[in-house]
Amino acid sequence: MIFKLNKNLLISVSVAAALSLGFSACMEGSATPGASNGPTVPAIDGGVNYPVENGKTGPYYVNTQFDSVKMNHGRIPTKHELEEWNSDVMADGTGLPEGKGSVEMGEEVYESKCVMCHGDFGSGGGGYPSLSKGNAYDLHKTLTNQRIKPDTDGPVRVFGTYWPQASTLWWYIKDAMPHPLTDSLSDDEVYGLVAYILNINEFEIDGEEVDDEYVLDRAKFLKIKMPNVDGFEPDISGPNGPENVRKYFANPKNFGAIKLKSASERCMTNCQEPTAKVVYIKGAGISDFHPPLSAVRDLPVEKDTSFNAEKVYTESCAMCHGADGMGAPVLGDKAAWAAVTSKGINKVYSNGIHGINGMPPKGGADLSDNDFKSVVDYIISKSK
Ligand code: HEC
Ligand code: HEC
Repeated sequence: MIFKLNKNLLISVSVAAALSLGFSACMEGSATPGASNGPTVPAIDGGVNYPVENGKTGPYYVNTQFDSVKMNHGRIPTKHELEEWNSDVMADGTGLPEGKGSVEMGEEVYESKCVMCHGDFGSGGGGYPSLSKGNAYDLHKTLTNQRIKPDTDGPVRVFGTYWPQASTLWWYIKDAMPHPLTDSLSDDEVYGLVAYILNINEFEIDGEEVDDEYVLDRAKFLKIKMPNVDGFEPDISGPNGPENVRKYFANPKNFGAIKLKSASERCMTNCQEPTAKVVYIKGAGISDFHPPLSAVRDLPVEKDTSFNAEKVYTESCAMCHGADGMGAPVLGDKAAWAAVTSKGINKVYSNGIHGINGMPPKGGADLSDNDFKSVVDYIISKSK
C-alpha cells in the first residue's frame, strides 16, 4: 500500500499505534490532538505530536503529568526486562541472533510498518530520514573532498553511503523501530527489513547482488562490507582505539590544510601556503567527480570585463573590415578611411551606430555608443 505522507496521517498513525499498545494513559494530553486544553497548532516531534499551549510546546511544557513532579505511572523494570531492552549488536557479530528474511518479506513489512514515515523505497522526507538515495557505492563518492566540492548538492549521508557498520542498522531497527512500537519486530522480520534496505541501496554481499530474490541470514549478514567502513578517522574500534584517538588529535596536521610552524604547534597567522594541497580525505579521487575537481586552492580567475578596442575590433569587426569582402573600408587602407572621415566624424559615428548599406548597426556587436565610437577611433588611428 502506498501512503501519501502528510501530517494528519502521521498523527493518526502514531495515535492509533499508541492506543493499540495500551499507551493511551501516558500519552493522554500530549499525543492526542484536541484532547488537552486549547491545543492549536500541533508540533510534530519524531512522530509524536505535542499540542502548543501558551505558545510553548514539547513534552516538558505540555505534559500534564509533569506538574506534580512525581509521575505515578509505570514501575521499575525487572532485571530481565532491562536485559531485553539493553541489547547490543556488535560489528563482530556479538549479540546478532540467528535468523533469516527475504527482500520480498522485508518489503512487505516495510510497506505496512515503515513507509508512512520513511517514504516509498526509503526516500524519506517530512523530517524523517531517508534510508536510501540510490546506489550506495556511487553515492559514497559524494562524501569525499567536501572542502573543495564545487556543486551545492553536498555529501549524501544515508545508511548505505555513510554508516561504517551494518550491525548498527540491524540493532537500530530491532531496538528503536518502528517508532513508537519499538522492540516489536521478530528477528526474522528485522533480517527481512535489513535485506530490503540493502536492496534499495543496491548492495552486493560477497560479490552477489542483493536482488529481489535475496534471502539474508546471519552468515551472509556478517559478510557485508560497508563502502564507508574506512571513512572515519581516527579508528576508534578495538583495544587500540583510545590510543589512536590521542595520537590523532596530538597532530595538528589532522585538523586541516594548514602550514605548520613546527610538527606540534598549530599555526595561527599567515599560515596558508599558496600551493597547499587539498587535505587528504579517504575515498574517491578528484577525477571521480564530473566535472573533475581541482586540487589547486586558487580563487577562480576573474573574468576580464574591461573594454579593449583592439579586442572588440578583432572579435566583431575584422571579419568584414579585415578584408575587402563586402565593400567595407579595410583597416589600414588610408585612402578608403580618408574618404570616410571626410564626412565629419560625427556622421561616421552615426552611420556606424545606425548602420548603413552593408554595415549593420554597430557591426552587429553588443556595445554602448561610447564603446562603439572607441572602436571606430581605433580603426581610424590604424588607418592614417
Ligand atoms: C512514526 C514514524 C516512524 C516509523 C513508522 C518508522 N520510523 Fe524509522 N525513524 C523515524 C525517525 C523520527 C527516525 C530518526 C530518529 C533520530 O534520528 O533520532 C528514524 C530513524 C530510522 C533509521 C535510522 C536512519 C538514519 O539514517 O539515521 C532507520 C534505519 C529506521 N528508522 C528504520 C525504520 C524501519 C525499518 C521502520 C519500519 C519497521 C521504521 N523505521 C518505522 C520514524 C519512524
Ligand atoms: C557584416 C560586415 C561588417 C561588420 C561585422 C562591421 N562592418 Fe563596418 N562596415 C561594413 C560595410 C560593408 C561598410 C561600408 C558601408 C557603406 O558605406 O556602404 C562599413 C562601414 C563602416 C564604417 C564607416 C561608416 C561611414 O560613415 O561610412 C564604420 C565607422 C564602421 N563600418 C565601423 C565598424 C565597426 C566599429 C565594426 C565593429 C564593431 C564594424 N564596422 C563591423 C561592414 C561591416
